[in-house]
Amino acid sequence: MKIPRHVAIIMDGNGRWAEQRGLPRSAGHRAGADAVSRGLAIAQEFGVEILTLYAFSTENWKRPAAEVGALMGLLVEFLTAKMPEMHRNGVRLRTVGRSSGLPEAARTALLNAVSASAGNGTITLNLALNYGGRAEIADAASRIAADAAAGKLDPGKVDEAVFAKYLYAPDLPDPDLLIRTSGEMRLSNFLLWESAYTELYVTDCLWPDFDRAEFEKALASYAGRDRRFGNHA
Ligand code: FPP
Repeated sequence: MKIPRHVAIIMDGNGRWAEQRGLPRSAGHRAGADAVSRGLAIAQEFGVEILTLYAFSTENWKRPAAEVGALMGLLVEFLTAKMPEMHRNGVRLRTVGRSSGLPEAARTALLNAVSASAGNGTITLNLALNYGGRAEIADAASRIAADAAAGKLDPGKVDEAVFAKYLYAPDLPDPDLLIRTSGEMRLSNFLLWESAYTELYVTDCLWPDFDRAEFEKALASYAGRDRRFGNHA
């Protein structure tokens, strides 16, 4: 089976999963964090090289403070509890997004895990945190403008390849497959630049229920696609 090198996931549906069970939304996010560990293990088993997960968007700050706090707490808990095992399994942790805008505890736990796992190479778990696709493009444009103003960059030479070098993770290949759970047919400001030719897969399955069978369905769908990158030859 043709396996995507880079899989990106919009992990949607934690809230609905909890509501269906009469539980608080935070319980859905907790179940979602368990699904992160499970999904990572499955991706690693199938030989996926990079797994990028949309864990917290620039828009998620608009949620009630208690929910934001629960998500940040879960992130710290996840990193503290799972990092030793991830490290043993050769997982490299990375992050994209405005990490400087995260609460201190989350930012410290995240940056420590990123530097501690920098030498690992089996799979890269790339967590999108305080991430927005438009913010990423705006941040790139701002840094390009600064370099141009400083005389380090010729504005006439800014093409797609140069622009892409200013994105958050210029060394990572674009995602081959983008999965969205819980049925919504939108990108929600995720990897806007990088998804230009990415194959999309949407499932009604809610993120906490996204298990091996669901992951295999997404991979099988991808394997059956004919990728042309705008080329009809
Ligand atoms: C969407 O569900 C999910 C999120 C906004 C956050 C994703 C977070 C996790 C999976 C858990 C924490 C992550 C890590 C890496 C430990 P929703 O709340 O929008 O669901 P709804 O649309 O049903 O309300």
